[in-house]
Amino acid sequence: MDGNGRWAKKRHLPRAAGHKRGVDAVRSTVRAARDLGLEALTLYAFSSENWKRPEEEVSDLMGLLRHFIKKEIDEFIANNVRLIVIGNYQALESDIVAMIDDLIARTAHNDGTTLAIALNYGSQDEMIRATRALAAKAVAGEIAPGDITEADFAAHLDTASLPPLDLLIRTSGEQRLSNFLLWQTAYTELYFTDVLWPDFGAAELKAAIDSFAGRERRFGGR
Ligand code: FPP
Repeated sequence: MDGNGRWAKKRHLPRAAGHKRGVDAVRSTVRAARDLGLEALTLYAFSSENWKRPEEEVSDLMGLLRHFIKKEIDEFIANNVRLIVIGNYQALESDIVAMIDDLIARTAHNDGTTLAIALNYGSQDEMIRATRALAAKAVAGEIAPGDITEADFAAHLDTASLPPLDLLIRTSGEQRLSNFLLWQTAYTELYFTDVLWPDFGAAELKAAIDSFAGRERRFGGR
């Protein structure tokens, strides 16, 4: 969800104001995803590298996350949205971890759109954690190293319960993957837009999906 800082700077506002508008964009994009009947939407909210930001900005982001969870929970439940978190969110402050666990448990049986929020997420970290889990099973004799398949590896990633990733949208003109879903994007279509995240919403999501719908996907075939 890039571009919050630039959105604020353009208006001579503090970065926090950009993040706050970013949360409004999260709300409208999640609603749009639900209305379009998307099976899943994953939002990159906080990367494992974002800890390098000034303490005040990290604290602003955590405050927005707390507020978002408190405010949105009823709407998620009412609208059959299932929430999951990818990333090592257990390392966040304990009250946030408890709020997230509660939200996950209370929406676990919903079968509408799945909203996955990436928190303290880094794709390389995710793959290392999956590797360690598989290695532990191998040491315990539960799986033979030579039998490990791509499906086994995918099943140990944080995204195990998500469908294959069709489309990745990157906002604000950036053209990098930034340690996001590196395994999962093997055959994903990429969509880049100059729109800054706070200006993203239903119309931009629809435009991205229309672009996706016009693409020919061959998955390595011909
Ligand atoms: C990137 O923009 C944005 C982030 C690092 C944070 C995104 C977080 C939110 C929108 C709010 C919290 C999320 C939820 C789900 C409640 P940037 O700051 O790098 O902007 P810039 O590239 O213009 O500097």
